[in-house]
Amino acid sequence: PRTVARGPDGALTMGGLDVRELRRRYGSPAYLLDEADLRARCREFRAAFPDEDVFYAGKAFLCRAVVRIIAEEGLFLDVCTGGELATALAAGMDPARIGFHGNNKSVAELTRAVDAGVGRIIVDSQIEIDRLTELARDRGVRPRVLIRVTVGVEAHTHEFIATAHEDQKFGFSLASGAAAAAAFRILDEDALELRGLHSHIGSQIFDASGFEVSARRVLGLQAQIRDARGVELPELDLGGGFGIAYTTQDDPAAPADLAKRLRKIVDGECAAERLATPRLSVEPGRAIVGPAMITLYEVGTVKDVDGIRTYVSVDGGMSDNIRTALYDASYSATLASRASTAEPMLARVVGKHCESGDIVVKDEFLPADVQPGDLLAVPGTGAYCRSMASNYNHVPRPPVILVGGGDARVIVRRETEDDLLALDVG
Ligand code: LLP
Repeated sequence: PRTVARGPDGALTMGGLDVRELRRRYGSPAYLLDEADLRARCREFRAAFPDEDVFYAGKAFLCRAVVRIIAEEGLFLDVCTGGELATALAAGMDPARIGFHGNNKSVAELTRAVDAGVGRIIVDSQIEIDRLTELARDRGVRPRVLIRVTVGVEAHTHEFIATAHEDQKFGFSLASGAAAAAAFRILDEDALELRGLHSHIGSQIFDASGFEVSARRVLGLQAQIRDARGVELPELDLGGGFGIAYTTQDDPAAPADLAKRLRKIVDGECAAERLATPRLSVEPGRAIVGPAMITLYEVGTVKDVDGIRTYVSVDGGMSDNIRTALYDASYSATLASRASTAEPMLARVVGKHCESGDIVVKDEFLPADVQPGDLLAVPGTGAYCRSMASNYNHVPRPPVILVGGGDARVIVRRETEDDLLALDVG
């Protein structure tokens, strides 16, 4: 994060505050969210997409304070469950600036979204269209919807593979004609206001050519709808998935460059199809919040496993960051509480959970004198760490501390043993 630096004696600081002091105040592990960095990333996206809408994908990390920050910075919000929607509404987010995603929205969730006046619902199945149509007729309203289109581009880390068929649960297939059929149905029935098409091709993408293929295909469908029904849909959402640097090897594009590229693709395709350019929107989650947070841990044990490697155990682990175990994700770690001139040693940073896959950082060079009581910082943990945290082994989930304006405050409190026990009945 932008405001992380080393203080005079070599300890890490965020927003000018010493992490040792933050540890004393809030305990460990803790997620530290750099407010200036988060706001700067929101502004960078706003500046890069001035005539477009930027929806922050709340699944990356959501709490009331973050909803307020992204709203203040002019972003829209993408939610994908009733729980995320409730958080957004509780924080005072303007419902008209919320987009509602999900492949299995319940009738209760849809009802809540419609009654709240959510700005757009991204429909994902025929059954959902049935539910929403019925709801709309019952209530005498006409919800605005986008159709989630599966364009046959599968994006992986660092690459994308274009496939003819799809085998995943999201969206309406373009290739099979399901997406066109959904559009015709919505237009013909007229209970819902079809605003546009939506495509999200994956996450942690560095190669923009995946967006090129998806934009071309989805605008092809847009032209097909125009030809069949004489309607030009006014909006187009190309989803999120913009990659961030977890290690020094990753080299993400700046939002401005990304925006230029996307606009060029869309403008080119629209010209080719003789379509008016729809209003574009994107849905970055990770790229907004991922780099803005670090996790602060305390070292508990250091164990040299003879001749193989040194295991440095910290007071959290897979319950606060499942990404290493789940996706083989790469993180780095740094000694945060002091400077050291000791030789670097190859270490594996592990957690306190009862399984050997409980790894936070697979390979890292740490000073050979790392010892119990030292603090370690793992950067880049803003996205999909707290939001995917669990209580595995009855480890309470860490707090989120917002650091900014020369001060720090808790925005998500630490879970307690009482919280854990509160769910047990009998
Ligand atoms: N829009 C839609 C429709 C999405 O499904 C997603 C992510 C996003 C936007 C935001 O993607 P982002 O810009 O954050 O990459 N748990 C995984 C990531 C799952 C992403 C799911 N959808 C991880 O930890 O990498």
